[in-house]
Amino acid sequence: MKALICEAYGPIDSLVLKDIPSPEPGPKQVLIEVKSAAVNFPDALMVQGLYQVKPPLPFAPGAEIAGVVKVVGAEVKHFKAGDKVIALTSTGGFAEFCVADAMRTMPLPEGMDFDTGAALVLTYATSLHGLKDCGNLKAGETLVVLGAAGGVGIAAIEIGKAMGARVIAAASSDDKLTLCKKVGADETVNYATENLKDRINELTGGKGADVVYDPVGGPYTEPAIRALAWRGRLLVVGFAAGDIPKIPLNLALLKERSIVGVYWGDSTRHDPAGHLANLKQLNDWFAAGVIKPVVSQRYPLAEARTAIADIAARKVKGKIVVVP
Ligand SMILES: NC(=O)c1ccc[n+]([C@@H]2O[C@H](COP(=O)([O-])OP(=O)(O)OC[C@H]3O[C@@H](n4cnc5c(N)ncnc54)[C@H](OP(=O)(O)O)[C@@H]3O)[C@@H](O)[C@H]2O)c1
Repeated sequence: MKALICEAYGPIDSLVLKDIPSPEPGPKQVLIEVKSAAVNFPDALMVQGLYQVKPPLPFAPGAEIAGVVKVVGAEVKHFKAGDKVIALTSTGGFAEFCVADAMRTMPLPEGMDFDTGAALVLTYATSLHGLKDCGNLKAGETLVVLGAAGGVGIAAIEIGKAMGARVIAAASSDDKLTLCKKVGADETVNYATENLKDRINELTGGKGADVVYDPVGGPYTEPAIRALAWRGRLLVVGFAAGDIPKIPLNLALLKERSIVGVYWGDSTRHDPAGHLANLKQLNDWFAAGVIKPVVSQRYPLAEARTAIADIAARKVKGKIVVVP
């Protein structure tokens, strides 16, 4: 089968498309024919050796897929060949076939296409976990989403609205902010041309935001904290801008603000029941038309390397998928 292979941690353009033997599922695994594999920012970090998880080399990147079960392991009882599924794979998704743990595989919901299935879980489950479990976001509160036109950003806008918040989307171009409005943002801030802190204060009548969802880091985190209200919460989701900000802690003291880490992957292991409840909530919201991943571009497997380079280069809106 064909797969995009990382042979050594390094630049994205060192990834190679190769013919390799199809993987074989273990007793608790399934073999899936990949129909669509979502591209996520961590894929770009992982192949460069910059992510907190460093898979043994060589490996194919690709953490979430949708496809059709081809073979089930001896101990797998709840899937059969031919089932349409979504799977969280950590790696291996940018390939024609991929093995997944049966415990991290779920049926593709009725009426959902493969691209939407591939693009749904990682970003939406991260944003729901962040806003609900870590941020305790309440109806009527004001939520600011940084990097709002990206994968977890769009999900945070839609979920914030579903939870009853007023949502202010912040991104680096008017084009990206138009998409944020389209998916439900109430207000926008272009942080490339406007002062982030001043604009949030202006939009909140000087009170500040209740929750900031921050997958970007770099120069945006500190002004966003300074624009948090009394007992506001900063959700630390990621550092797409590259730099991990160093924050003066007096900013937490002054308004009893909280700085809260969000690590969805590990949270699913610490709280599997909460994770399942969140997946059910996402499924219900999808069925009701409340959330809908924006898949802005599809790349053939031969161009998967370009897809990863595009997400690293800040070129992507919503989600992109690789279609083997
Ligand atoms: N904590 C968790 O559990 C968890 C789970 C999933 C993802 N993450 C993290 O969340 C972050 C975003 O992931 P994603 O999949 O949403 O990525 P994405 O779709 O690429 O969105 C990231 C956004 O960051 C902004 N950005 C600012 N500076 C950038 C730069 N130098 N390079 C690239 N982007 C830049 C871009 O928006 P503008 O151009 O508008 O600024 C971009 O839309 C990543 O750091 C990822 O590792 C964390």
